[in-house]
Amino acid sequence: MYINLINASFYEDFHLLAFSGLQNASYVLILSILLMYLLCMFGNLIIIVVVWMAPRLHTPMYFFLGNLSTLDMGYVSAILPKLLDYQITGKTNISFTSCFAQLFLSVACINTEFLLLSSMAFDRYVAICVPLKYSIIMNKRACIILSLTPWTIGALNSLLYVYLISHLSFCDSKHIIHFYCDMKALLRISCSNIKHVNIVILTEGYTLGFIAFSMILTSYVFIISAILRIKTSARRLKIFSSCVSHLTVVLLFCCSSLSVYMSPDSKSSTEVDMMLSLLYVAVVPALNPLVYTLRNKEVLDVLRTPRVIS
Ligand SMILES: *[C@@H]1O[C@H](CO)[C@@H](O)[C@H](O)[C@H]1NC(C)=O
Repeated sequence: MYINLINASFYEDFHLLAFSGLQNASYVLILSILLMYLLCMFGNLIIIVVVWMAPRLHTPMYFFLGNLSTLDMGYVSAILPKLLDYQITGKTNISFTSCFAQLFLSVACINTEFLLLSSMAFDRYVAICVPLKYSIIMNKRACIILSLTPWTIGALNSLLYVYLISHLSFCDSKHIIHFYCDMKALLRISCSNIKHVNIVILTEGYTLGFIAFSMILTSYVFIISAILRIKTSARRLKIFSSCVSHLTVVLLFCCSSLSVYMSPDSKSSTEVDMMLSLLYVAVVPALNPLVYTLRNKEVLDVLRTPRVIS
């Protein structure tokens, strides 16, 4: 009986409370979220289909890009449909299970994305610094390892977070001041002692972030020094343009995720936090396909001359 009572309160619904002060802007908000969601799904789907159908894009870089697009679709699908539902129906509750499913998917996607971006940086490093050995180093097996590792680590890491956070108690405070079950927002309302959980999460997060970031940085230090050694400026530009899409995506991703996750955790910053998160959740995943299609000559060529697809 006692255990049942505890379980009942343990699995009680959470309530998402966000943008409640924006009653008048609601339609604008709904429309823009819907638009960003469709744009993101559509754009990323196009990338996957184009890479899949054009034999000349069957190179490691585009396989990784396909993986990145899959990730982006998973990420927005974990968050935006629920947010739309909540904005349209006004029902703020989210079940315990859905809430942690959301937490799992969002954390897993962010982690995987970060690691995948470092795999892509490594790919660019090999392509630019040791071009003659490119096809030997980036063989099928290496590609599969380089893309499977981020997914595995991302999922395991996220599973650990979900395990830790779902075992905290939330007492009476079931009101999440956010538009999805965000890790920081959940930790903020827990009534357990979160010191140990915080230490594990921070250590893990910083270690993973540090590894990924130093891989990206090292790759680019080598890439840039290789580019600077090139004598003719036309060739220099050509080589540089082959990694400019990746660099843009890395910068976008790093800046936005750093601004959301590294910002000081004060109560007053939650509104700003949420706006930044919305930007991050809805806009950045939609930008990846844009960056890669508009800036990338190879993809543009395939889109312009569909006959090469077959
Ligand atoms: C993800 O990467 C693997 C290995 O490079 C590749 O075989 C697979 O097709 C990629 N997935 C997508 C959706 O592009």
